[in-house]
Amino acid sequence: MMNELKSLFENNRLWADDMKAQDPEFFAKLSAQQAPEYLWIGCSDSRVPANQIVGLMPGEVFVHRNVANMVLHTDFNCLTVLQYAVDVLRVKHVLVVGHYGCGGVKAAYENADNGMIDNWLRNIKDVQHIHSEQLAAEPDEEASCNLLVELNVRHQVAHVCHTTIVQNAWARGQALSVHGWVYSLNDGLLKDLDCTIDSSAGVEQAYRISSGY
Ligand code: CO
Repeated sequence: MMNELKSLFENNRLWADDMKAQDPEFFAKLSAQQAPEYLWIGCSDSRVPANQIVGLMPGEVFVHRNVANMVLHTDFNCLTVLQYAVDVLRVKHVLVVGHYGCGGVKAAYENADNGMIDNWLRNIKDVQHIHSEQLAAEPDEEASCNLLVELNVRHQVAHVCHTTIVQNAWARGQALSVHGWVYSLNDGLLKDLDCTIDSSAGVEQAYRISSGY
């Protein structure tokens, strides 16, 4: 087993040496503090690595990834990352990044029994149901799935904004924008869905929180 993983340690040593060659103080500076301006909430898919896609170095983007880039109000893992990013790191931007060809979205779209994961993907089914007419108007299943990827991102952007974490940040005057993007595996390019929300004015009335601030 160790031999199978040996190359990873070799790669790691080469990478660390390379970083030190470029900037001898790189690790010393980074180990002292992190001050990323961005929180990336993306899919776990191995083809969608946060830092590389946007050309950012270690220390420049705080990352949370799960299957199909979901933001659910019962998920303490995601909420913990969001709270730390907003309250402590004070990131300026939250980036919800979906990707076309997402296996999680496709699994939600289909009606197969996938076991436990269907519970995780249940929220996408709700998005599918809400937008069923719009999805049915697409020419084929692939196009429908890709539209569902976009719609899912828009809903997860809204979910980020429904949290007390984000609404309290706005109430105390903290600059914070929440963006929805989609990445294409075919050409490596990001698309902005232009659904940015940067104040409680962008939150539907039912989800607005009367803050103590
Ligand atoms: Co995916």
